[in-house]
Amino acid sequence: MADRSTQHSGFRCRKTLSCWFALAVLLVVSSFMICLNSTGRPHFVDRNLLPADKVFSVIEKANNPPRLPIEERAVNVEQPLFDEIEIRQEEKARDKCDPSNAVLKVYMYDMPPEFHFGLLDWKPDGKSVWPDIRANIPSYPGGLNLQHSIEYWLTLDLLSSNFPDRVGPCNAIRVYDSREADIIFVPFFSSLSYNRYSRVIPPETIFRDKLLQQKLVRYLASQKEWKRSGGKDHVIVAHHPNSMLDARSALFPCVFILSDFGRYNPKLANLEKDLIAPYKHLAKTFVNDSAGFDDRPTLLYFRGAIYRKEGGNIRQELFYLLRNEKDIYFSFGSIQGNGISTASQGMQSSKFCLNIAGDTPSSNRLFDAIASHCVPIIISDEIELPFEDVLDYSEFCVFVRSSDAIKEGFLMKLIRGIGREEWTRMWERLKEVDRYIEYQYPSREDDAVQMIWQALARKVPVIRQKVHRSRRFLRFPTGK
Ligand SMILES: *[C@@H]1O[C@H](CO)[C@@H](O)[C@H](O)[C@H]1NC(C)=O
Repeated sequence: MADRSTQHSGFRCRKTLSCWFALAVLLVVSSFMICLNSTGRPHFVDRNLLPADKVFSVIEKANNPPRLPIEERAVNVEQPLFDEIEIRQEEKARDKCDPSNAVLKVYMYDMPPEFHFGLLDWKPDGKSVWPDIRANIPSYPGGLNLQHSIEYWLTLDLLSSNFPDRVGPCNAIRVYDSREADIIFVPFFSSLSYNRYSRVIPPETIFRDKLLQQKLVRYLASQKEWKRSGGKDHVIVAHHPNSMLDARSALFPCVFILSDFGRYNPKLANLEKDLIAPYKHLAKTFVNDSAGFDDRPTLLYFRGAIYRKEGGNIRQELFYLLRNEKDIYFSFGSIQGNGISTASQGMQSSKFCLNIAGDTPSSNRLFDAIASHCVPIIISDEIELPFEDVLDYSEFCVFVRSSDAIKEGFLMKLIRGIGREEWTRMWERLKEVDRYIEYQYPSREDDAVQMIWQALARKVPVIRQKVHRSRRFLRFPTGK
């Protein structure tokens, strides 16, 4: 059609300006027509601006389960289809959270509250096992408890992942049919359970944390989702090194979210299967940090107990090596209460912060240092670091082998040898990466919550492969 009209008007009026003009208009119109595809819609129009068409709404359906009241969701596993109005509503929410960009579909068990918000003294009102977090968010206890509060932030993020007015990103969305899910999330607040209930309170004869773990094992074993995969696609947060002590060996095929592997048998937990998550730092994040090399008078900052059990001997040795050096600040004990702002100030005015293995290879000190943009010196041979598949820690941390660190003069020579330029490069990088360790609700782009979901998404192909392999002989079982 476009060809015919060009031919038709091509040669009649050669010399007049208006003829050239007409030709130009024709060219524009015909090129526009060529741009149209078979549906009559131009290729270059952003499809987000168009009303939902058939293909589009199928994607939407897959990614946006209808928002039923929570109790109905729990009972009604088979989801009714979306209607047109619902799709339109989702379209509006698109600029805030785009579920079709989610990288992870998560099924979360509607477990009894005693496993999660009940541990925060929240009482269910009989309607749902979950609090209405839009009305009121049960708060997590402060102080040192907070450093392992990972379970809480992940659960809040999932509970809000389908809110129509959700702000911020949603790498993970909650689905209500477990067959659609990439992973199955177990909302047990295990660190809190350990922190609060690991002592026997008469008349009980066994502490509640242990009881809850036994209950959890029984609960999971009876779920069809667990039976289907043997737990391989289940995600369990056990960030406190002593949490899940009794249940870990029963649940080990799952993906654990941990602080390190210090207290785990390598068969139960390892880097290939599990995920390392940052501690929630206690020091304040240094916002708008302009305190560069010359604004930080202390060369090296150390905080922590000097005398530790297992693996912590090196602290003592280092203390005796370093105590007479200039520009070094030692602070003993952990930070809590009023100590937090003093510690923050200390780290914000130091160039380097020392992180030495204690009872366990990791500690929240590293994350306090990152938040304070104090270049971490890491002396911990067994440490595991969060998101190391996407983060190169050597860009903003200095690693020293324990065997080197205790050589007379080694550490100070190394540290004094790092000049302004090199230090500033690391400091600039710290200012970029500090958001990856931030836990908050609502979650923001690339904060710790989103980083964890993304890291889990990278594990999904391996998880799937394992689940499929384990199913080879299940369909037509051959007798033994
Ligand atoms: C940081 O800087 C931004 C932009 O200049 C400003 O809006 C914000 O209030 C500052 N925040 C703090 C805590 O100083």
